[in-house]
Amino acid sequence: MPLIIILVECGLELIPKQIRNQPSVKRNLKVKKYYSLLLDNALHHSAMKNLKNHEKRGRPDITHICLLNALGSPLNKSGNLKIYVHTIHNRIFDINPEIRIARNYNRFKGLIGKTLLEGDIIIKDKTLISQVDGNLNDLIKPIENSEILLFSSRGSLIKSHQNLFLKNSSKNYIAIIGGFQKGSFSKEILSLSDNLISISKHQLDAWVVINRIITYYEISHSLI
Ligand SMILES: C[S@@+](CC[C@H](N)C(=O)[O-])C[C@H]1O[C@@H](n2cnc3c(N)ncnc32)[C@H](O)[C@@H]1O
Repeated sequence: MPLIIILVECGLELIPKQIRNQPSVKRNLKVKKYYSLLLDNALHHSAMKNLKNHEKRGRPDITHICLLNALGSPLNKSGNLKIYVHTIHNRIFDINPEIRIARNYNRFKGLIGKTLLEGDIIIKDKTLISQVDGNLNDLIKPIENSEILLFSSRGSLIKSHQNLFLKNSSKNYIAIIGGFQKGSFSKEILSLSDNLISISKHQLDAWVVINRIITYYEISHSLI
């Protein structure tokens, strides 16, 4: 059974209309360049201050680092990882495990800008990213015999990583990790599971959590 990871509430969105005339936005906008269409806190910080939920938005860098870590892992290379990206505006994207994510941040932003505009990324007849219809419940519900693990620094601290993923379990493990830097899960995310798990007494970055979860799964399934 592959491990299913859903990176939720990622700060990926096109620059909202309401701030497109702000100086910091106009300065960085390049016509016909997909990468410049994405909201990015590093460039648009001052313009974002009045946006609702702004602390979770405009962070393509977090998704970038998480995807590089997840897709480059032995777990993914052995065909045992399925990853979805869910955005702050509830769009869900299915990431083909064979995609080669650009190491260069601007090129990654270009890919995401194109994805948000067009929905799917298809290259040479191969679908690399596709938008999933419906909401997270619609995505998760049809997965039979699933165990949904919601990773949070506010969850119950695990005693040992060895008990997290059981080797001979027939369960489909679904790991949900927040793709944001500050704040906590929305009500919609919290309603997906009561199983709130913490893997450290420290608050960790999303990419550290993704790495650790993948490593724990690899170890428990002897997939190194
Ligand atoms: C930088 S944190 C978001 C900040 C948030 N206050 C928190 O810790 O939940 C990004 C994500 O990493 C995961 N995370 C961070 N620390 C964790 C911990 N100690 N145990 C499990 N997951 C953790 C959660 O999924 C969280 O949404």
